[in-house]
Amino acid sequence: MPGELPVVPRHQDQRPYLLFGAAGNAAGMTQAGARGGGRSAEPAAPPRQLIDQLLRAAAAAPSMHNTQPWRFQVRDAGRTIELRADPARQLPYSDPSGRAAHIACGAALFNLRLAAAVAGQGADVRLLPDPREPLLLATVRLAGPYRAAPADSELHAAIDRRHTNRQPFSSRPVPPGVLAGLAQAASLEHAILHTLDHDEAVRVLNLAAGAERAQLADPGYRAELARWAGGQRDRDGIPDSALGPRSPDSPTPVRDFTPGPQSQLVRYAWFEGTPQLAVLSTRSGSRAGWLRAGQALQRVLLTATAREIATCPLTQPLETGDAWLVRDPRSGSEQPQMILRLGYGLPVPPTPRRPPGDILDQPKPGENPPPGNENPGSHPS
Ligand SMILES: Cc1cc2nc3c(=O)[nH]c(=O)nc-3n(C[C@H](O)[C@H](O)[C@H](O)COP(=O)(O)O)c2cc1C
Repeated sequence: MPGELPVVPRHQDQRPYLLFGAAGNAAGMTQAGARGGGRSAEPAAPPRQLIDQLLRAAAAAPSMHNTQPWRFQVRDAGRTIELRADPARQLPYSDPSGRAAHIACGAALFNLRLAAAVAGQGADVRLLPDPREPLLLATVRLAGPYRAAPADSELHAAIDRRHTNRQPFSSRPVPPGVLAGLAQAASLEHAILHTLDHDEAVRVLNLAAGAERAQLADPGYRAELARWAGGQRDRDGIPDSALGPRSPDSPTPVRDFTPGPQSQLVRYAWFEGTPQLAVLSTRSGSRAGWLRAGQALQRVLLTATAREIATCPLTQPLETGDAWLVRDPRSGSEQPQMILRLGYGLPVPPTPRRPPGDILDQPKPGENPPPGNENPGSHPS
């Protein structure tokens, strides 16, 4: 089967493998993947190259305004990777509660799980493992031989091809079978994806326009946007090359990233008549719920990318006190976490990322250094 990883030689055990550990936070990456026997033996320390690979995959995740609000620390000779939120990269105006930062970190966690699986490593994940350390969002223990399913490899191959696409999409509808596949992707990560009909899409786009008007009236919000969007960028933020046009019609189904005096540079183009929107929700609005939403978001985005579907998050109404209005009145008491525009679009360029060395915290004196880096003061790249 193309893309299927060779079975690890010691592999014997065909039991479905649960990626989430004792805390029982979520179900496995895939029911088809399986880990080798010998649970009691301590897995070999992974090489430094593998850790870099995992961090690069994690950092390719989407984040609001491309803030990349994550940090990683490697412990236990490389067998455990800790994921922390980076409060210095939280957005005080657009994301005062940290919800979007958690979603981004959840998406990074999903990529890390996937990259570990494809590298033949099982991953025991615990969400929010230590209540005394709120910034510690997850631990990932690399737990030894794992056979990735072809579906894992397909999603993994989509990590570097996935980009937020803010351009107009074609009027070709997304087939119902593809939309059903995206809903299934969300449910594998314990989230719910509703696709919106015409009336609901118009209602939600009007909510987005109203929320954005209120946001743009706040000079703090505009300054935050200017800090993170526009211009040339090589580490973080959204460069001009990734921003899209505005619609001559209202509302544009894309966030306005160019408020203020530079608005004369704005380009205009017609967008698809009725954008195909979908709302991703979770049953809980807790921090664990946000992390699950992020993992579900990333599984949905990668599934869409693998099916050649372009995606664009759109979250203005979720950043206000009226986020609950986004909920489909016919659905239950779910918590909306993300609005996505889906469709067929032309390819768009990637946004920059910081290298692994910039997102990896070095151990404090006396702690084990990560593999291949015995100098705690140095920053590997
Ligand atoms: C929680 C969250 C909210 C986002 N909200 C928006 C949004 O409202 N509008 C938008 O165009 N992109 C939005 N994005 C997409 C980010 O801007 C994008 O992921 C980031 O710039 C990195 O680019 P990439 O997705 O192409 O890798 C959001 C992403 C996340 C994770």
